[in-house]
Amino acid sequence: MLTKDRVTYLKENNPDQLQTLLKTTSTDAELLRLLSQLGRLPRGFDGDCFVTILESNNNPKIRYTAVKNLGKLADEKYIPILLDAFHAETDSVTRREIVSSLGRMRSRATIPYLYEFLENGDPEIVLQTIRALLVFKKDEHIRKKLLTLQNHPNEIIQDLIDLELNKQYTNGQENRKLQIISPNYLKNSIIQGDVRAILPFVPDESIHLTFTSPPYYNARDYSIYSSYNAYLDFLKQVFSEVQRITKEGRFLVVNTSPVIVPRISRKHSSRRYPIPFDLHAILMAMGWDFIDDIVWAKPEASAKNRNAGFLQHRKPLAYKPNATTEYLMVYRKKTHRLLDWNMRCYADETIEKSKVPDGYETSNLWKVDPVFDKVHSAVFPKELCKRVIQYYSYVGDLVFDPFAGSGTMGSVALSMKRYFFLAEQNDEYVKRIQQKLGNASLLTNSQPQFFTLAEFGDMRRQA
Ligand SMILES: C[S@@+](CC[C@H](N)C(=O)[O-])C[C@H]1O[C@@H](n2cnc3c(N)ncnc32)[C@H](O)[C@@H]1O
Repeated sequence: MLTKDRVTYLKENNPDQLQTLLKTTSTDAELLRLLSQLGRLPRGFDGDCFVTILESNNNPKIRYTAVKNLGKLADEKYIPILLDAFHAETDSVTRREIVSSLGRMRSRATIPYLYEFLENGDPEIVLQTIRALLVFKKDEHIRKKLLTLQNHPNEIIQDLIDLELNKQYTNGQENRKLQIISPNYLKNSIIQGDVRAILPFVPDESIHLTFTSPPYYNARDYSIYSSYNAYLDFLKQVFSEVQRITKEGRFLVVNTSPVIVPRISRKHSSRRYPIPFDLHAILMAMGWDFIDDIVWAKPEASAKNRNAGFLQHRKPLAYKPNATTEYLMVYRKKTHRLLDWNMRCYADETIEKSKVPDGYETSNLWKVDPVFDKVHSAVFPKELCKRVIQYYSYVGDLVFDPFAGSGTMGSVALSMKRYFFLAEQNDEYVKRIQQKLGNASLLTNSQPQFFTLAEFGDMRRQA
C-alpha cells in the first residue's frame, strides 16, 4: 500500500510512475485513497489520467475526486472535457464539483458556459457558478448579469447576491464597541406596563439576548385574546420590536408549547393550538434566522393526565399522549456576519470569564424539572434560564424578558454577572419580582430599579 510520503515523493520526483499507478490501480478503495492523497499538484502535471478515470469509472466518489484533481490544474484545455462530463454526469455532487473546477480556472473562456449554468435547476450549481463569476465582478456586463439573480426564487442565492453586490463589505471594526455597550437606564430595570407600550422607548440594537415565555394564548387567565389570530398578531408586534432592539447577529430564545383549549360541552371537541409552529413562521418572515429547536422535557408525573378515557377503552383515534415537553426555539437576528464576528467584539478577559464550564448540555433534549411558585402559575426553572444565559450571552451583556412574570430571568442574569431588563404588566407579579430580585441583589450588590411606563418614558427622553 502506498504511504502518503511515498505519494508526495512520486509527485515531485517521478510523476510518470504516479500516473501509471493512477491508471492501473485496480480496486476502488485503493484508487480513491490515492486520488484523495494527492494534495497540491506540481506545475505541468499531466491530468490525462484524471480524464480517463472521469470518463470510465462507475463509482461517483471516484469521478468526484478525479474532477477535484482536474480542477487543481486550472488548465483551460480541460474546459470541453469538463463540459461533456457535466452533461453526462448523473451524480449531483460531482456535477457541482465540475462547475467549481471550471471556476478555479478563473478563465474568461468559461464565461459563456457559466452563464448557461446560471439557469440550472440545482441551486448548488447556481451558487458555484456565482462564485466563479464573482471573480469578474468588476466587469459591468457580468455584474449586471449577476444582479438579475436578486429575483432568483432561492433564498440563499438572493442573500449571496445581496451580500456580494449590494452591501458594502466592511469588517465591522468601526461598530464593534457598539456591540458590547447598552444604555445604562435599561440595566437592571423592571418596567411595569404593556410591553408594546414600553418597547418604543428602547433604542435600536440595545439588547444582547432575549429569553422569554409569552402568554399561552387563553390557557391562563393573565391575558385574554379575542381570537387565536389576535393573539398571533400580538406576538408579531412584540417580536418585531424585539428584533429592532436586538444587536446585530444576537439571539432570541422563545419558550412555547401547543396549548389546548378545553371543549365547551360534551358535544364539542377541545382545540389544540400549535403556537410554536405558527410563531415560527411569523419570526422567520420578520428577519430572524432559525438556529435550533431545543426540547424541554419534564417528568410525566408533572403533566396533566390526558389518558384516563383511552386507558379504559383503548379505541384507536382517541389516543392522547401526555404533553411532557415544551420548545425552546432559538433564533438569531439576520446578518451577513458570521458568529465569529460577534465573538470577536469581546475583550479576551470577558471571553475567558464567560466560557461555559464542563458538564454543559450537549444534546437538544433538556431534561429539567418544572418549578412551582406561590404567586405565578407558570415560572421558568432557574436551570433553564441558567443554560440559556450561559450558552447565548457573555458576562456584562444585557438580557431581556418582555414577559417577565415572576422575574426568574432577572435574578438568574444577576447571579451570572449579566444585566437584565424586564417588562411585566401585572401588579402582583411585579411585587413578586421585587421580592425575588431583592434577595438576588443582596447577593450581587446591584440595585434593581422599578419604573412605571411614564417614568420610563422620562428616562428615555433624558438619556
Ligand atoms: C408565561 S408568563 C412568564 C413567566 C416567567 N417566565 C417567569 O419565570 O415567571 C407570561 C407573562 O406575561 C405577562 N404578560 C402578558 N401580556 C403582557 C403584556 N402585554 N405586557 C407585559 N407583560 C405581559 C403575564 O402577566 C405573565 O406574567
